[in-house]
Amino acid sequence: MATLVFSPAAFLRPKPLRCRLLLPKPLASASSLTPPTPRADPVGGSDSDPDPTPLFLRPASHRLPAAALAAFRRRAAALVPPSAPHLHRHLRWLLADATAANDPDPASRSDPALLRAPLDDLEAMWLRHVRGRRPFQYVVGNEHWRDLVVAVREGVLIPRPETEAVVDMVKRVEGFADGWWADLGTGSGAIAVAVARELGAGGRVFATDVSEVALEVARLNVQRYGVQDKVEIRHGSWFEPLEDVKGKLMGVISNPPYIPTVDLPGLQPEVGWHEPMLALDGGKDGLEHLLHLCEGLSSVLKPGGFFIFETNGDKQSEFLVDLISTKWSSSFRNVEAVLDFADIKRFVTGYRR
Ligand SMILES: C[S@@+](CC[C@H](N)C(=O)[O-])C[C@H]1O[C@@H](n2cnc3c(N)ncnc32)[C@H](O)[C@@H]1O
Repeated sequence: MATLVFSPAAFLRPKPLRCRLLLPKPLASASSLTPPTPRADPVGGSDSDPDPTPLFLRPASHRLPAAALAAFRRRAAALVPPSAPHLHRHLRWLLADATAANDPDPASRSDPALLRAPLDDLEAMWLRHVRGRRPFQYVVGNEHWRDLVVAVREGVLIPRPETEAVVDMVKRVEGFADGWWADLGTGSGAIAVAVARELGAGGRVFATDVSEVALEVARLNVQRYGVQDKVEIRHGSWFEPLEDVKGKLMGVISNPPYIPTVDLPGLQPEVGWHEPMLALDGGKDGLEHLLHLCEGLSSVLKPGGFFIFETNGDKQSEFLVDLISTKWSSSFRNVEAVLDFADIKRFVTGYRR
């Protein structure tokens, strides 16, 4: 496992304004996406970086004449048309993450510039983004999510903006602060970290995943935000790692894989070529994991406990609300579909009786 460098200065830097609208689309938008094309790696070699440390956490130890950096900037900008303003914005962010001064226009301000990666690596990163359709978040190794800068890398789902609302809903649950919570399929650990930061002295989050890569990244994020005393990371499938806390949980949170298998070939390249199928593939109708979660829920929640599942949207949520309110009506109350910021019924929530 690579050593990941923790830099307090980088950690405390102000969050740059990053427009979310042009970052990867919600998982639900598969149907409107570019038809699949063969995966391409324009710079050759493996898709993943040799150094998985997020760019902004690497030491700024590479000196480069300002003129060489300015030339890179011009070369990189020339690769993208003016009609793709989001790529020009990504170039500014790449330069900001790559420079000691977190400066989107470093070539104009310091000479030599101090970079966090050799120029050849930046060139390769940029090519993989603009030619290989590698998500910008994997290129720089982080995503801005709520008030967090979450480390991500290949093998781990990039947390999506619509998932941010989960934390707000959970915070409103009576008894939230001192409850025990499970974040099932934690991925980068974004939800677990955000929830943990709001908990009181008795609160705890069990963050689980079957993916070892995800848990490695989740561990890093937990450590970076100093919530190791609140988040316990456990490996295993869904409820399996929770045997010892059965019937004791205040809440279960999960954003499981929910894309119907038949829709996977239609995913936009940034998602379908690069994000882990383990995090996307929801099986038949996208419901395989969601149904498993619904079935096991009553055994882990304590009476009055809350659950929230993210879904692919409207139909899946409506189906699950119907199912839980009929098949398990004796176990759950107040089961409902909750809208996301795009007015899609994205979440299913309810309480254990
Ligand atoms: C859609 S991603 C969500 C990641 C993260 N919670 C988020 O919201 O960004 C689904 C996650 O479920 C995990 N997963 C898939 N199958 C699983 C299983 N059987 N048990 C536990 N986790 C699983 C994947 O590895 C992935 O991290």
